[in-house]
Amino acid sequence: MKIKNICALMVIILIFCAACQQTFDQPVGSGGWLTGDVNEKFETVTEHLGGFGKAMWEVDYRFNELYWAGKDKNWEYAEHQIDEMEETLELGLERRPARAASAQQFMTSAIPDLKEAIDARDPGMFEMRINIMINTCNSCHALEEMPFLTVKEPLERRSSIR
Ligand code: HEC
Repeated sequence: MKIKNICALMVIILIFCAACQQTFDQPVGSGGWLTGDVNEKFETVTEHLGGFGKAMWEVDYRFNELYWAGKDKNWEYAEHQIDEMEETLELGLERRPARAASAQQFMTSAIPDLKEAIDARDPGMFEMRINIMINTCNSCHALEEMPFLTVKEPLERRSSIR
């Protein structure tokens, strides 16, 4: 390729890059609330997505549903809730890997043991293992220096699923 052509190509690439940059830096979202360059936008989105606290909200809800599903012997609903709870925790730990060590017993023992009881459709085994799960929620809270987060058996249903 001739030098002249190479220069022309470089100019085209530069113009293209500048145009891209401008597009990436443009505000987006309803009313253009998300501003800054690409990294700044991702930072803002991760702030909104939340860390472990948001995951725990969902885990607590799913735990509650799981508890009543077992009481109702609605095993398919229990399966659904424990799977969703596991995934929520996995994603939460991906965002906050420093918490993974404290969650290890929960992930590798409390969840699979309770799944076994659900698969067995065994109310007695479920009752015993959900109580072990409660203790494991609490041991993680203690390890994370938040012993004031005391999980107990739910008293009331939160959703309209029976
Ligand atoms: C990593 C181990 C870990 C496990 C396992 C765990 N938690 Fe948590 N939990 C935390 C941490 C850390 C927080 C505080 C999060 C924050 O606000 O940053 C928390 C917060 C909470 C909160 C308060 C959320 C809020 O801010 O309103 C609830 C409710 C909760 N957990 C319920 C549970 C239940 C129920 C289980 C078991 C089914 C459970 N947790 C298992 C670590 C854990």
